[in-house]
Amino acid sequence: MRVDILTLFPEMCEGPLSHSILGRARAQGLLEIGLHNIREHGVGRHRVVDDTPYGGGSGMVMRVDVVEAAIAAVRRPDSHVLLMAPAGEQFTQPVAARLSQHTHLVLICGHYEGVDGRVAEHLVDGCLSIGDYVLTGGELAALVVVDAVARLRPQVLGNPGSLMEESFTGPRLEAPVYTRPQSWRGHEVPEVLRSGHHGKIGAWRAASSAALTAALRPDLTARATVEGAEAVDRGRGRP
Ligand code: ADE
Repeated sequence: MRVDILTLFPEMCEGPLSHSILGRARAQGLLEIGLHNIREHGVGRHRVVDDTPYGGGSGMVMRVDVVEAAIAAVRRPDSHVLLMAPAGEQFTQPVAARLSQHTHLVLICGHYEGVDGRVAEHLVDGCLSIGDYVLTGGELAALVVVDAVARLRPQVLGNPGSLMEESFTGPRLEAPVYTRPQSWRGHEVPEVLRSGHHGKIGAWRAASSAALTAALRPDLTARATVEGAEAVDRGRGRP
């Protein structure tokens, strides 16, 4: 998979994409990343990328023609082009799974007060938000998307067992994990995890995970129930 990130601040992205699992995936050729400065497509000698908003208002707006040229420089027949924006579709694990099926993603990072509305309306396949808060720009959001999508690609994770568990258990909080020391300041690792009894350990983890999810994220259980019912309906040919 290749991901091209269009940004005014490519240096912001390099670090997080160069270490740990993503760094290794790039070194192994499992993930190709292109970082492109939108300013290279700016207008005139000063490479202008933004202008004041029609109708007034504060701040500057990124120009549609500049973004168009930046996209054109990386677009391929298989490109899936997304604008990072707080008003976009909510980025969730199922969206990450969907995006991981693509061979080429182009992520556009907006900055300043916004991006000309015609980018979202005419130039991209969709808009993505990583949450209901406003960031100073799309860079951190794009990095979140690359991380969550890349780990779903074949061979990127050293231990694919964790992916198998995720896909079987659905959207649940994971049971806590523990390692040595067995006793720390009077707090013991749960006995069952030291029993060597795989059946009991599995049951404990499933129960812990269900209890944590019900206590901290009851919405996940509700969502899974609705999604499950919708999947059953689709299987029966209902919309
Ligand atoms: N740009 C600014 N805020 C954002 C958000 N929450 N998600 C994606 N892109 C953004």
